[in-house]
Amino acid sequence: MKKQILLIVSGGIAAYKSLELVRILRRHDIAVRAVMTKSAAEFVTPLSLGVMTEDHVYGDMFNLKDEREIGHIQLSRQADLIVICPATANLIAKMNAGIADDLATTILLATDKPVLAVPAMNVRMWNHNATQRNIKQLREDSVMVMTPDSGAMACGEFGPGRLPEPSEITQQICTQLGVKFDATLCQGQSPTTQSNVQETITNNQALAGKHILITAGPTREAIDPVRYIANRSSGKQGFAIADAAAKMGAKVTLIAGPVSLPTPSGVERIDVESALEMQSAVNDALPADCAIMVAAVADWRAANNAEQKIKKDGDAIAPLQLIENPDILAELSQHKERPKLLIGFAAETENVLEHARTKLSRKGCDWIIANDVSTTNGQGVMGGDHNDVHIITADGEDNIDHATKERVAQTIMEKIANVL
Ligand code: PMT
Repeated sequence: MKKQILLIVSGGIAAYKSLELVRILRRHDIAVRAVMTKSAAEFVTPLSLGVMTEDHVYGDMFNLKDEREIGHIQLSRQADLIVICPATANLIAKMNAGIADDLATTILLATDKPVLAVPAMNVRMWNHNATQRNIKQLREDSVMVMTPDSGAMACGEFGPGRLPEPSEITQQICTQLGVKFDATLCQGQSPTTQSNVQETITNNQALAGKHILITAGPTREAIDPVRYIANRSSGKQGFAIADAAAKMGAKVTLIAGPVSLPTPSGVERIDVESALEMQSAVNDALPADCAIMVAAVADWRAANNAEQKIKKDGDAIAPLQLIENPDILAELSQHKERPKLLIGFAAETENVLEHARTKLSRKGCDWIIANDVSTTNGQGVMGGDHNDVHIITADGEDNIDHATKERVAQTIMEKIANVL
């Protein structure tokens, strides 16, 4: 039988993400019935939510028609799980105190169904002793409370308090309902009319006045006028990082190998082909406050780049002599204009963390961001839209599990903004 959740939307800036959540849940064949608090309706209209759920949106405790057709007790009885998303500090406090002064809080007091709360609020509100006390008590009372994401907030501050991605919330809901989670159902644009709110959130100016240098894409090492050595990098991860940095107000120089991606808005792009060209473009772009070397630079190039197309000689294969390319990242770490924060990426196919840590010290960078680039059926990080990364620093390790490259980029830039 189809699983059903009762979604309670309370009034915070993240309320608009409930629309995206509904879309993904319904793609997982989970039915959603929604209740909005009065203040939630200041952020998302009941009409938008009703369009997404294809159902009536409940809000008023004393609506006679609603009570006659389906009372507040019934609303929770019909659900397999109650999800509060976003759960504001105010709603969490009321819930903990057992206050029932509107439809949402009355349902929460009356229900015997499992409850999952997804908090989203300003970092200071989240860190406040009162909120932390309430969360602790709710968890002891068997309410599942997700930990909010950390990063830049709509109000311009940084830290924990951001609503987790709708895909992560869906994953949690699927686990609770015993429904198979499918990450591919989380892709694509939300039909939300409020996507400009997302823009506002990412558009804080924490990196204003900083110069960020980024390399991206593959390099191409010519063998002759028509042949070259290259790799599968598409440039997507590096371009997403450039985009995120520019949105945070940085001056961004993006040195791109041969890729067919549009230049992110506000980014200065320098196209190069070979490792040697990339090396010289990097040196020309200095000084920079931070350099992020996302490019998959070819370690070797042909010793002789033939002037004319090399001809087949009977059955014999023309021998290809290779010589080593300069290590741009390692050179930058020794440069007199070394950026204050120097970040390398490590593309590994085995022993990912171990090899990445070795690269961190061998190349002399401050952080190394490791990703597993092995492929399954030709599908992988290189060329794909998702990534799983480990950010390795002197202080330890942060992981970003399966996320879009845009999301990975945004999280990395927020971490960078905290130290620059
Ligand atoms: O482009 P996408 O399709 O989105 O894929 C993204 C990515 C997988 C290419 C990216 O996330 C990534 O891992 N980039 C680093 C690729 C790489 O070359 O890794 P590496 O482990 O070989 O090199 C380590 C570091 O040294 C990298 O920062 C690299 O830019 C740098 N390097 C390497 C060789 C060289 N001659 N000069 C360098 O500066």
